[in-house]
Amino acid sequence: MKAVVHHGVGDIRVDDVPEPAIQAPFDAIVRLTASAICGTDLHFVRGTMPGTADGRILGHEGVGVVEEVGPEVRNLRRGDRVVVCSTISCGSCSYCRAGYFSQCDEANPNGPGTAFFGGPDAAGGYDGMQAEKVLVPFAHSTCVKLPDEVSDDQAILLSDIFPTGWFGADMAEIEAGDVVAVLGCGPVGQFAIASAFLMGAGRVLAVDQHPDRLETAKRLGAEAVDFSAEDAVEALQRLTGGIGPDRVIDAVGVEAESPEGPRPDEVAEVAQDGTADGERFQPGGAPAQALEWAVQAVAKAGTISIIGVYPPGMTSFPIGDAMNKNLTIKTGNCPHRRYIPHLVELVRTGAVDPTAIITEQDTMQGAIAAYEAFDARSPGWLKVELLPQGA
Ligand SMILES: NC(=O)c1ccc[n+]([C@@H]2O[C@H](COP(=O)([O-])OP(=O)(O)OC[C@H]3O[C@@H](n4cnc5c(N)ncnc54)[C@H](O)[C@@H]3O)[C@@H](O)[C@H]2O)c1
Ligand SMILES: [Zn+2]
Ligand SMILES: [Zn+2]
Repeated sequence: MKAVVHHGVGDIRVDDVPEPAIQAPFDAIVRLTASAICGTDLHFVRGTMPGTADGRILGHEGVGVVEEVGPEVRNLRRGDRVVVCSTISCGSCSYCRAGYFSQCDEANPNGPGTAFFGGPDAAGGYDGMQAEKVLVPFAHSTCVKLPDEVSDDQAILLSDIFPTGWFGADMAEIEAGDVVAVLGCGPVGQFAIASAFLMGAGRVLAVDQHPDRLETAKRLGAEAVDFSAEDAVEALQRLTGGIGPDRVIDAVGVEAESPEGPRPDEVAEVAQDGTADGERFQPGGAPAQALEWAVQAVAKAGTISIIGVYPPGMTSFPIGDAMNKNLTIKTGNCPHRRYIPHLVELVRTGAVDPTAIITEQDTMQGAIAAYEAFDARSPGWLKVELLPQGA
């Protein structure tokens, strides 16, 4: 079968690889009918999240049809349509039972880290979903069945980015009337904006430097701040009566860019496998920029919710300023299994239609070019859906 395979920093290819087979009683094989490229994939290809093996199939977003189940998977059968959670969870350990599915004690054979598809060995070393088929471990918990009314185009956004945006808004402790700032207007940021409004935010201020992404945020009702044209912190405070937003959601992560330009020392600290040569797949250049702006801009006694991804070795956070403003800081990998059933229902009833975020669709043959356009933030390339069964 065809799959997008990681061969090293800056080197991804569409390869022919063997089809997966059931290995354990709770496994399932899913034939994928939709996949996607995510900002998280860029961290592995750019080198800002080290440790992805040569030969690893990338991709952690998938929708498909169950082809085969292991003997202990009792809530799924061949032919069921499912959305696959990005993070893998056993559904039995104390963390899963408490709703912390992304901190599952059983799903990662390589240590305590969050287990997910298509990432570093420290994340379990599982092959991903930019492929025709995937092996889903603990499928009784990691797959969620889809009703017929929810299309593949809708469901692919339920695999990772809608739940992550929702998680970001949930952690931000939004109360009715709150002013919320969302840093980063990529796909995750767009869903954080939509979720903040659904949770009662009075205003949402959206920060990025790409006009097309800011335009999408405005269509959701957000007020745009272009950090290439104005000082982001100063604008966030001026627009909020000098107080600052009550809640700030970081939907940027380690690929943050700074108007002052790259900070090579900070990049070297996070990119332990090195970074790509040439023009393609370059790191954002200022890993701590969004964190610094969040702490500077937020109101005293406010909340910062960090869903942007940072690698384990990153240590730079302005804790002194945060402490002296009485801030609450929450962060983590999204516990997808906790939120997806509810979000499937919001989409089924028509309360939310997430498909406006998909701007491109590509077959596996076009996947590398699609990665390049998404990496370059080419105008209009907000979210790429891959069609693994396409010609
Ligand atoms: N916590 C989780 O479970 C989880 C799950 C999925 C994705 N993520 C992470 O969410 C982040 C966003 O994902 P995405 O797919 O939207 O990525 P993306 O790369 O498409 O979007 C990031 C956006 O941030 C903007 N940006 C860069 N520097 C900025 C700055 N200083 N201030 C404001 N905006 C800035 C970029 O222009 C870009 O539009 C990534 O780090 C991704 O890994 C986290
Ligand atoms: Zn993702
Ligand atoms: Zn578990």
